[in-house]
Amino acid sequence: MTPSASSSSDPGGTPARELFGSKWGFVLAAVGSAVGLGNMWRFSYVAAEGGGAAFVFLYIIMIGLLGIPLMLCELTVGRRTHLSPIGALRALGGKGWVPLGFLFVTAGFLILSYYSVIAGWTLRYTVEAATVGFAADPGAHFGEIAAGGTAIMWHLIFMVLTIGIVMIGVQKGIEKAATILMPTLALIVVGLAVWAFTLPGAGAGYAFYLQPDFGDLFDRTTIRQAVAQAFFSLSLGMGAMLTFASYLSRDTDLNQEAATISFADFFVAFAAGLVVFPVIFALGLQDSVTASTVGALFISLPGAFLEMGGAGRLVGFLFFLALAVGALTSAISLLEVVTASIIDELGMTRARAAIGVGILIAAVGILSALSTDLLGLIDQIAGDLFLVMGALGMSIFVGWAMKDDPSAELRRGAGPTFARFIPGVVFLIRFVLPPVIGIVLIFSIQDAWGAITSFLAGG
Ligand code: PFF
Repeated sequence: MTPSASSSSDPGGTPARELFGSKWGFVLAAVGSAVGLGNMWRFSYVAAEGGGAAFVFLYIIMIGLLGIPLMLCELTVGRRTHLSPIGALRALGGKGWVPLGFLFVTAGFLILSYYSVIAGWTLRYTVEAATVGFAADPGAHFGEIAAGGTAIMWHLIFMVLTIGIVMIGVQKGIEKAATILMPTLALIVVGLAVWAFTLPGAGAGYAFYLQPDFGDLFDRTTIRQAVAQAFFSLSLGMGAMLTFASYLSRDTDLNQEAATISFADFFVAFAAGLVVFPVIFALGLQDSVTASTVGALFISLPGAFLEMGGAGRLVGFLFFLALAVGALTSAISLLEVVTASIIDELGMTRARAAIGVGILIAAVGILSALSTDLLGLIDQIAGDLFLVMGALGMSIFVGWAMKDDPSAELRRGAGPTFARFIPGVVFLIRFVLPPVIGIVLIFSIQDAWGAITSFLAGG
């Protein structure tokens, strides 16, 4: 793991762009971006709503069919140009594609604004588990802390941590943090899954999670959510992977990286399910998850940990710590997309860009810290609709619009194992992604519209 030269000589890239110090640094940072609240908080309640195993099955298909090809679109454009999204799209596609870059930056901005509020809850639960233990009535406790003054405080603490790491930069900040935090998270989640296996009554949780009811496979909402969840979880559709790949040197096999990142992300989501469902079913708390509120995980799991006494408190501490760690490495990538764009477009220093935009995001996030309904709505608009729009734009761009042949960049550095998949991937990018994501986009628009009108009507 020796640091490579920290500059690039690409025509589009800035002359002294900082690069990841090692191949593993990039992979861990990208896995860090992918693995986060989406794997545990969002995956568990969306899977519960979508009928458990049927959703998981669809989700795996969507990762292979749409997720990995889309990730390759982003990695190709990022590494080819060594630029952040707006500049990269301009360099390869001309001015007409700049609005897509703005959509990416807006999505990153809005997602981080509410993501940080949820991460703030997570931090709070971690600290509470360590100091006073879980509250006696988890539902009431969540109601008290989810919105209002203390939610704002923990949201701001989390934003300060995120801004701090992004300010430090790619190698010393993002790469270092991911290298320490990601293995920690994986160990904790696997340890918890093993522990959950020992719980009496866990079987019902596995049955719900792993036995598909194929009737749900054709449900329009389940399909939309499986696609949107794949994008959200893999950090796709808003240029996060593109931005990270812009710090990547030429000699890596993008295909292998995409496979590794996707596998790791799925592994953690799946393992988190192996913790969440047995624990919830062992204690008969399934109703609080299927109620599908943004708070499901924060109500049901503390309730479960509470009933398990002293061991539950330790396990709960570890669970929320893992969640907070995952949230932090994902938040870093969300802020990095916006920060890198400001650095590249406006020529600002990294520290100024990160602090300036971080403060703005923190300010907008206060709205989500005041209302969980608003938080849920912004999640549906930015974390679902915008990502699907961004994904559609990206697949059309790489498949049909950009001036370079995507397979050329995919071949660069590719070993024989993955090289043979390249023609198939390019076929998917051109002919499968645009129509399939296009249909999902129609569903997403309809559902987002429904959510907006019901929000405006007061719930
Ligand atoms: N992938 C992250 C998660 O699963 O929690 C969330 C996320 C990060 C989404 C970065 C999008 C993104 F660009």
